[in-house]
Amino acid sequence: MLHPNMTVNAAGHLAFAGVDTIDLARQYGTPLYLVDEDGVRSACRMYKSTMERCMGSGAEPLYASKALSFTGLMRVMAQEGMSVDAVSQGEILVAVTGGVDPEKIYFHGNNKTDGDIAFAMEKGVGWFIVDSHEELQAVGRIAGERGIEQKILLRITPGIDPHTFEAVNTGKIDCQFGVPIETGQAVQFVQAALNTPNVRLMGYHYHIGSQIFDAVPFNDAAAIMLDFVADCKARFGFEPEVLDMGGGPGVRYVESDPVIDVEAVLENIGRYIRTRCAQLGLTYPKLLIEPGRSIVAQYGMTLYSVGTVKTITGYKNYVSIDGGMSDNPRYALYKSKYTVLNADRPGQNADFLCTVAGRECESGALIQPDVMLRRPVRGDIIAVAVTGAYNYAMASNYNRVPRPPIVMLKGGESYLSVRRETIEDELRCDL
Ligand SMILES: Cc1ncc(COP(=O)(O)O)c(C=O)c1O
Repeated sequence: MLHPNMTVNAAGHLAFAGVDTIDLARQYGTPLYLVDEDGVRSACRMYKSTMERCMGSGAEPLYASKALSFTGLMRVMAQEGMSVDAVSQGEILVAVTGGVDPEKIYFHGNNKTDGDIAFAMEKGVGWFIVDSHEELQAVGRIAGERGIEQKILLRITPGIDPHTFEAVNTGKIDCQFGVPIETGQAVQFVQAALNTPNVRLMGYHYHIGSQIFDAVPFNDAAAIMLDFVADCKARFGFEPEVLDMGGGPGVRYVESDPVIDVEAVLENIGRYIRTRCAQLGLTYPKLLIEPGRSIVAQYGMTLYSVGTVKTITGYKNYVSIDGGMSDNPRYALYKSKYTVLNADRPGQNADFLCTVAGRECESGALIQPDVMLRRPVRGDIIAVAVTGAYNYAMASNYNRVPRPPIVMLKGGESYLSVRRETIEDELRCDL
């Protein structure tokens, strides 16, 4: 199986985190998101201990909550002592409600409104990642009004193309995030931050993209950033206490994806930065990484019930399920690959080539084309693996379809953490 938390039990059913998926579908209904809580905890611990071991004490992961954010998960993050990256008032509120210490929240985003900035300061958010000159002025002004000094990192664009999908590639110059080095604007940004009252410049942030499978793009970006650090040290005498390298470690969605050894990648990056800092005569900073996908993706699964199975004679077979792009828009957005399985005897007699289609009225609302399944019948349960990241987080009510619930799996047991939306919820904001 794709990941160790996916197994086949004695009944021949797909089990996720040791729990029978057909039983779960029966108990909670479909569509249904599952989250392997033990797996998420183990990923947090791996990141924390590996970073501390190979990047020095103080180095830590920030969980990028844009990947998946709900109160129960944030409770887990708080218990694991994780710092959290949040990009909106909503993500901040969920993190704080789950018990995350606001001092450990890092507030991102390329267009924080004055309202967002005031809200985050009101909640005591420890760190702002400032994305532009306008935002720098706004953060300084609002911090001044509140009589505080706000810790900030500046988002810098190193100009790296990590060869991932265009829409998740943010380290290159021409994008809406950060301030580029190559144009000379980043140096001006640092100078402005050093001269802005009520902000304390703590260091730099950069993020090169997502689904990165080895250390090379991270080290290439670090090389550019450390040259920039040295340049700013020479110009302004400023050295960062913190260097936040963003997120991006990749995850296996299908068998043909490479297996990523995150520990080895982290070790490699740590070694590289230490060596380069020594060569450039720089103080070794506190290193941060912001993994989202790699902390939750493989610890999520979605279960659906099959509705219709349609053969367009001479063309294709379509298996339509009771969810789709409203709970998982990633195929529609990025043509993302997914592993789809029959929950009953997965892989056995899987000789029916089909397109798994969502229920939404939209021809692009597919979950995955060209999937091999055992020909399902109405009511069969289908599992889509590795849906923990950017599925629930990107879910919508398109076609006024209620969002599925989230069930957490812990120690072989299950519990409801987010209830299923109802059609009455669809009316809650309508006046
Ligand atoms: C600034 C920033 N940090 C972290 C992440 C998380 O990336 P990933 O989920 O690929 O680890 C993202 C993803 O878009 C991001 O934009």
